[in-house]
Amino acid sequence: MALAGSSFSSSASVFGAIVFIVLGFVLNQAYLCHGGTTSTFVRKAEKTVDMPLDSDVFAVPPGYNAPQQVHITQGDLDGKAVIVSWITMEEPGSNTVAYWKENSAEKKEATGKIIQYKFYNYSSGHIHHCTIKQLEHDTKYYYEVGIGQSPRTFWFTTPPKPGPDVPYTFGLIGDLGQSYDSNRTLSHYEQNPIKGQTVLFVGDLSYADNYPDHDNVRWDTWGRFIERSVAYQPWIWTAGNHEIDFAPELGETKPFKPFSHRYRTPYRASNSTGPFWYSIKRGPAYIIVLASYSAYGKYTPQFKWLESEFKKVNRNETPWLIVLMHAPWYNSYNYHYMEGETMRVMYEAWFVKYKVDAVFAGHVHAYERSKRVSNIAYNIVNGICKPVDDQSAPVYITIGDGGNLEGLANNMTEPQPDYSAFREASFGHAIFDIKNRTHAYYAWNRNQDGYAVEVDKMWFFNRYYNPHDESASAL
Ligand SMILES: [Fe+2]
Repeated sequence: MALAGSSFSSSASVFGAIVFIVLGFVLNQAYLCHGGTTSTFVRKAEKTVDMPLDSDVFAVPPGYNAPQQVHITQGDLDGKAVIVSWITMEEPGSNTVAYWKENSAEKKEATGKIIQYKFYNYSSGHIHHCTIKQLEHDTKYYYEVGIGQSPRTFWFTTPPKPGPDVPYTFGLIGDLGQSYDSNRTLSHYEQNPIKGQTVLFVGDLSYADNYPDHDNVRWDTWGRFIERSVAYQPWIWTAGNHEIDFAPELGETKPFKPFSHRYRTPYRASNSTGPFWYSIKRGPAYIIVLASYSAYGKYTPQFKWLESEFKKVNRNETPWLIVLMHAPWYNSYNYHYMEGETMRVMYEAWFVKYKVDAVFAGHVHAYERSKRVSNIAYNIVNGICKPVDDQSAPVYITIGDGGNLEGLANNMTEPQPDYSAFREASFGHAIFDIKNRTHAYYAWNRNQDGYAVEVDKMWFFNRYYNPHDESASAL
């Protein structure tokens, strides 16, 4: 059982630690024996407030028509293409990206598209999307946008060629928003001594829809806020409910309008027919992104795509099979309770059959890690509806704790269910650090601690190459 090491802040006093450990042991052993650890860490109660529009993190870059909200994501199936996106406000300007390898004088160019959209009384800037292709794996590139007016230069490193033993490190962030807590989460991710190379983002980006008329100016501020990370490393996008922006009262009835204009995905490369469900290979990982708010029932495009997608995964090439979604299937908080249940019923048997290593979800503004469990025995007559230990099942991690203005989910179901290994209502982020085909190191960091403090951590044993029970590795 993960106890003291998982739930204890290094900033507490020694005396506090002893009291905490003893109390935690008693509670867990005597009273809360149903599940794993419910952390007793208590955050200072404070309201989660969005940063004001004139915050430095929202500053518009200097220069006439300077590119802003620069962001990149993977642009193909295996990591040799990058989609570069940015927005110009005054006029369209150049839609060319110049790019070159580090230490190379040879510059190449690619040309993209410029789009705009209107949302109620808001008109967007000129949104540029440009895919640069045929890059070399594992190579640092510089790129320049805003050519001819106010050029800005950034860089990224392409992932290694997909293969079983190429180490790669993913960051995990969800439900970020643009509050002071959001800024802390992003800073903690940036300052984590284990350096993430790509962010797996599990949905709910800007929370602009919480403002009157879904004020899309807050989409722009969010784009400027995250540029300091996403211009330099790709974020892999999952669509959350705050991306839907369905507002018939404003005459806005096309779901996902701001999100789909601003943030692109390489869905066609994995033969998907919709932008919100797709797959990529990145180094040693095969990442499947699912859409909680697009149809997923039997016969739907997403269902048919996923049915064929699992069969395509070659674990000899990409041993680590990871799924991202927004609404969690295993969530023991009293928020969004069972909202993921219908998708679980549709897809969970495949996750077990194909031995998914980890599922990351958001939506619930807190943190939770499950044991390896499945709940696929039930049919309409047998009544077998309890999650059971299953070493072929994924670990389910809810990491919707980015820090948005809606605040924390701190009301949990009691007692903690058997399947729940660790849960805590704090903001934070995590790292999934793949070492080789058999081992990945996982750690969750809460914003109240130092950058290097890992609160919940465990070694993942790969389900294909190393399918042993790793529960003792939760430290
Ligand atoms: Fe959500």
